[in-house]
Amino acid sequence: MTEIKTEILFPKEVISRRVGELAGRISRDYDGRELLLVGILKGAFIFMADLIRGINVPCRVDFVRLASYGCSSQSSGKVRITKDLETPIAGRDVLIVEDIIDTGLTLSYLVKVLREREPASLRVCAFLDKKERRQVPFDADYVGFTIPDGFVVGYGLDFNENFRFLPDVCVLHDIA
Ligand code: IMP
Repeated sequence: MTEIKTEILFPKEVISRRVGELAGRISRDYDGRELLLVGILKGAFIFMADLIRGINVPCRVDFVRLASYGCSSQSSGKVRITKDLETPIAGRDVLIVEDIIDTGLTLSYLVKVLREREPASLRVCAFLDKKERRQVPFDADYVGFTIPDGFVVGYGLDFNENFRFLPDVCVLHDIA
């Protein structure tokens, strides 16, 4: 069996500084308004927990869970909601919080679905962005780090449900 090796890409101090910067920008952009943060489960839970504590406008929180048909390291193209929002979003300022954008399929699907519910505004904040892997055009409004192709784990991101607990973002080597 091949041993899985991890290598630190972003240590926790670097992550903390960058998440603080994003929270500052979001606070300035939404000054005087109230935000609804929509976290995409499960990967965004740690990022969202850190982000919300740095944002200084009032925030509400809700979550969605999405499934794409395919194996854990590759998207296949079809996305569906397996856990929907519990909050009506019509007229609200909504910020989707995602762990990583890869092909762009998940977010382009979710944005389309949520836009139909007529929020006052709808933006996307992604912790990581693998821009070169896009299968559909998609740009987030706020991005923590743009990274090259490769599979990353930690800070909420998993491989087969492992490694979410790692405080640093690490690249996985030797995955099939
Ligand atoms: P997309 O629909 O291809 O943009 O896929 C986004 C989803 O794929 C993310 O929310 C993650 O769950 C998963 N994903 C894509 N790349 C990685 C990675 O490098 N590590 C962990 N999960 C990933």
